[in-house]
Amino acid sequence: MVLGVEKIIGKKIVALKEVSSTNDYARSIAEEAPEGTVVLAESQSAGKGRNGRRWVSPKGGLWMSVILKPGFVDPRIVFVGPLSVIDVLADFGIPSGIKWPNDVWVRGQKIAGVLVESKGKEYVIVGIGLNVNNPIPEELRDTAVSMFELVGKEIPLDVLLKSMTFHMDAWYRIFREDPAILMQKVRERTFILGMFVEVIGGERFVGRAVDVLDDGSLLLDVGGSLRKVIYGDVSIRPLP
Ligand code: ATP
Ligand code: BTN
Repeated sequence: MVLGVEKIIGKKIVALKEVSSTNDYARSIAEEAPEGTVVLAESQSAGKGRNGRRWVSPKGGLWMSVILKPGFVDPRIVFVGPLSVIDVLADFGIPSGIKWPNDVWVRGQKIAGVLVESKGKEYVIVGIGLNVNNPIPEELRDTAVSMFELVGKEIPLDVLLKSMTFHMDAWYRIFREDPAILMQKVRERTFILGMFVEVIGGERFVGRAVDVLDDGSLLLDVGGSLRKVIYGDVSIRPLP
């Protein structure tokens, strides 16, 4: 593995007060923007999750999108997001895990989500939403958590941004140079392995999550037969 010396992520930062979605803003500048451009917003008026779902993003959280240009198409780039978030949280003493494919959870609650959008080989936008000092609204109290709630004090967002760009740079490099290492780490960090889950993707499966394969897909044991799921929404289910 040859390691370059250049630092890519965080080369240029566009800091906005409020925007509809940092992912949408990043897309609007992606063609001209240099690789590694970070779009950051204090708050988002229309933050989005997958499948058009809403991402609540008031002031106090880390809402950012990074424009990457690997020059090839590989959906495993999504894992650069969760692995980086996990390392950032570890820097603050918070252990966390991946709810395959794109969420980061701490002790049964969601602390971060990653939304990847791309245009062919031209660019990939990795959007990361991390609950930091922001309030968690009433309707998400059972399912969501913030760093503030876990460590009991406010965390400066500039320190977090630095940590995030540092870790993203490292994982993005590994993604490009040795994706097998990236996938090994994803496997280690995916806490749903061994659990009983429902996955809704093209089809609906209920079974035990067995493995994350090298191509990024989730392997399920559905009543004794193995099923490979490329993409989907995972919910944890009680054992039958
Ligand atoms: P899941 O629905 O299991 O959380 P997902 O990856 O499918 O995972 P999306 O639906 O893409 O998630 O993301 C949006 C979902 O995240 C919303 O449906 C909402 O339940 C939840 N959510 C929205 N804002 C926040 C937030 N700030 N923190 C934690 N969860 C949030
Ligand atoms: C998810 O949970 O599935 C994804 C949530 C992604 C939220 C981030 S916040 C920064 C970027 N801008 C958006 O509108 N969404 C992502």
